[in-house]
This record gives sequence, C-alpha cells and structure tokens, in this order.
Amino acid sequence: PLYQKATYLKSVPTIDLCPDELTHEVAFAGRSNAGKSSALNVITSQRTLARTSKTPGRTQLINFFTVDDTRALVDLPGYGFAKVNVKVKRAWEAGLTTYIEKRESLKGLILLMDSRIPPTEIDLIMLDWTKAIGLPVHVLLTKSDKLKKGPAKAELLKLKQLLKEQYPHATAQLFSSLKRDGLNEVWNKLDEWMEY
Ligand code: GTP
Ligand code: MG
Repeated sequence: PLYQKATYLKSVPTIDLCPDELTHEVAFAGRSNAGKSSALNVITSQRTLARTSKTPGRTQLINFFTVDDTRALVDLPGYGFAKVNVKVKRAWEAGLTTYIEKRESLKGLILLMDSRIPPTEIDLIMLDWTKAIGLPVHVLLTKSDKLKKGPAKAELLKLKQLLKEQYPHATAQLFSSLKRDGLNEVWNKLDEWMEY
C-alpha cells in the first residue's frame, strides 16, 4: 500500500530541527536491537530505507521517512544501549521525552520489544509516559520467528494482560520482519493513526 512510497526526508538530532510541514507522524521506539529499522523496511517494502545493524546503537538521530506531503514514519534511536557514555545517554533521553511530549504531529508510537525478552524498565517508562500524555501505543513483539507458535502466543497473551490492567492506551501483536508476519495488522494501525 501507501507505505511503499516512503522516501527518506532527513535526520535531525533534536526536536527543534524536526520538519514543520508534517501533520501526521508515527514514531518507532524501543530498545537498541529490538528491530525498529528492520520493521520499518518491511513495512515500507524497501530493503534499505532504514539502516539496520547487528551492532546495537546504529540509529542515533531522529530519521524522517515521508509517506506523502504531510505524513511520515519516524525511526528513533534505540534506548538502553550501555556502551554510549552517560552524558550522551542522558541528553538523548531528555531529547526523546521532549519529542514524545511536545511533537504535535505525533499521532502514535510503535513500541518494539523483542518477543524473547520481558519488557525492560525503559519499556515500562515509555508506557507510563505515553499513558500520562494520552498518546496511543502499539507494541510489536518482534523476532517472533525465533519462538515456536505456542510460546509466542503465550508471550503475547501475557503482555496483553498487562496492557489491559495498566496500559489501556496500548495494543499489541506479534511481528517478524524476517517472515513478514503481522504486516497487515501494523498497516491497519498505521492507517488508523495517519487517518488514511
Ligand atoms: P538500533 O538502531 O540499534 O536501535 O536497532 P534497531 O532496533 O533498529 O534494530 P535492527 O532493525 O537494526 O535489527 C537488529 C538485529 O536484529 C539485526 O541483526 C536484524 O537482522 C535482527 N532482526 C530484526 N528483526 C528481526 C526479525 O524479525 N527476525 C529475526 N530473526 N531477526 C531480526
Ligand atoms: Mg535502528
């Protein structure tokens, strides 16, 4: 669909440099190495739109990919990457908070979590922040190809229970960039937020 037309617009280090012509954007957040850039590439059916890497911490700027004149997908740097020094980490965390809280065109957050790793402290903080400001979240339990069907489903149910009890602004699904599993479900969510 529409997302295949996504093209790279620009990368910026801070919110004040974000493009101002956008009315709708959806950002991809999550731990380093969770699979954000890979998911973006699959969602846009482009193999090399967002840079992926085996080395965590690859994405370090806010990267904008426009879908049309006023809509964009946004690849955010991963959090929780230990090798970045503390000052850089703090500065980035402050920047991330500002972006999520202040960016008016931000309509929803795709939060990626490795399906094999329980939600981390920062994942939960992300859910708390977004709940506080009323920003909808859709969680992708990524790399679902690494789990068998049963255990994958069990992880999803566990997460859905947590969301139901504590984070009603959030929904969740399994996703595999490798197998392209869960693609229609994400597209539908994006359409909803982009108001297509
Ligand atoms: P940062 O930019 O560092 O925050 O990482 P990221 O979240 O963008 O992760 P990225 O997409 O670069 O993927 C990290 C690693 O996981 C790469 O080696 C990918 O090939 C691998 N990976 C991503 N998605 C999947 C998936 O669905 N299945 C499998 N098996 N591997 C995946
Ligand atoms: Mg990345």
